Order: sequence, then C-alpha cells, then structure tokens
Amino acid sequence: MANTTVAIAIDGPSGAGKSTIARALAADMGFVYVDTGALYRTVGLAMLRRGIDPHNEEQIVAVLPELQVSLGYVDGTQRVFLNGEDVSDHIRTPEVSMAASAVSALPPVRRFLFDLQQDTARRQNVIMDGRDIGTVVLPFAQVKIFLTASAEERARRRFAELQEKGIATTYDEVLSDMKERDYNDSHRAAAPLRPAEDAVFVNTDGNTLEESVALLKSLVEERLKG
Ligand code: DC
Repeated sequence: MANTTVAIAIDGPSGAGKSTIARALAADMGFVYVDTGALYRTVGLAMLRRGIDPHNEEQIVAVLPELQVSLGYVDGTQRVFLNGEDVSDHIRTPEVSMAASAVSALPPVRRFLFDLQQDTARRQNVIMDGRDIGTVVLPFAQVKIFLTASAEERARRRFAELQEKGIATTYDEVLSDMKERDYNDSHRAAAPLRPAEDAVFVNTDGNTLEESVALLKSLVEERLKG
C-alpha cells in the first residue's frame, strides 16, 4: 500500500491511558486521533440493542451486513455513527465494554472493521489506538507504542472516569471486569493484544498525564527523525 501519511500506532490494555494520552498528543501534533475501541463498542451496542448474545457468532455474522459503522469529527473530537445515529454517548457503559470485548474476539467482526480503520489512516496523519494497530491494522506505522500500567492503577483511572459520568459501579467491579477483559483480549485467537516486534514499551504507572504526553512526544519525534 502506498502510504504518504504518517501513522502512529498505540496499543495496550484497557485503562493504560491510551485514549487520553493519544488525544492530547494528536492535538499537540495536529494529527487526527482515531479511537478504534469505539468501533468494537458500536458493534457490541448494536448486538445488545437487538437482543443478540455478543458471543453468538452465527447471529452476529447474520446481522453485520445491516450495520453501517462510520467515524466523523466534530470540533476535532471523534464521533462514531451506527446507521447514521451518533452513538458516541451510548458506548461507554460497563455492559457495552463487555459486549465489545466479546464481539472483538470474532474474526468476521474484525474483518468488518478493518477497511474503515486502514482507510482512515490512509487519508490523513493519524494517531490510532487499539489492541492490534501496530501488529495487524497499520503494520507500516512509522511509530508503534505499547502502553501499559498495572491493573490496579488502570482500574482506579477507569473507576474515576465512570464515576464522573455518573455510571453506578464499584472499584472492585471495575478491577474484576478489567482483568476479565485483559484476559479475553490477550488470549483470543484473532488478533490478540500483543506488542509489535518494533514497538516501544511505555509504562504509565505513577505518571501524570502531562508527563506521559511529554514522554510519548519525545519518543515520536525521535522515531520520526530517525
Ligand atoms: O479500548 P476500548 O476499551 O474502548 O476497547 C473496547 C474493546 O474492543 C476491548 O475489549 C478490546 C476491543 N478492541 C480490539 O479488540 N481491537 C482494537 N483495535 C480496539 C479495541
């Protein structure tokens, strides 16, 4: 694939700070931030709305042709659309998180979302975050980062986010969901969460957002120069 744009891939487990850090870095560098988890969440939401078990591959495959998932940007912020409806505010609940993790294990779902992700990167400079961006979606990315943090620190951050949104849950529930999703995401057969061979590892434990953004920015600049 001829590629004249710059792609920065950020992979890692949920709650490692990928989206917050990638969004800030993209704004700073004038790149488009692409949150690919939102796409899997949208497919998960579509199944929940239809009353389909998000593990039921046969039923999901039957419904996929009815789904149109697309991305748009409003004031530089990514919005995700399901058959024309902006569902961005409906995909952050714990139920949708678990449904997203389940549907994302299915190869037909991954194939369904593949072109949208690659095409988005082909058109503009992107910072794209997910689980398989450096390994599968954008193997040609000029910079690949694998972002991690301890499960406890990630659960603390995710719990604070959910509380801010008024979503009822407890820290223990968030931690146990997170461990379950980590396990699912890294043990599935299709595009499991794993670092690309040429990825740079960054652990964000104990860092402020500003420190992590500054660290990634210097890493990216160094890589793009080299
Ligand atoms: O990043 P997130 O928590 O919003 O992602 C939701 C789910 O989607 C997560 O359980 C893993 C899956 N996912 C994936 O399999 N591949 C991606 N590139 C992004 C997310």
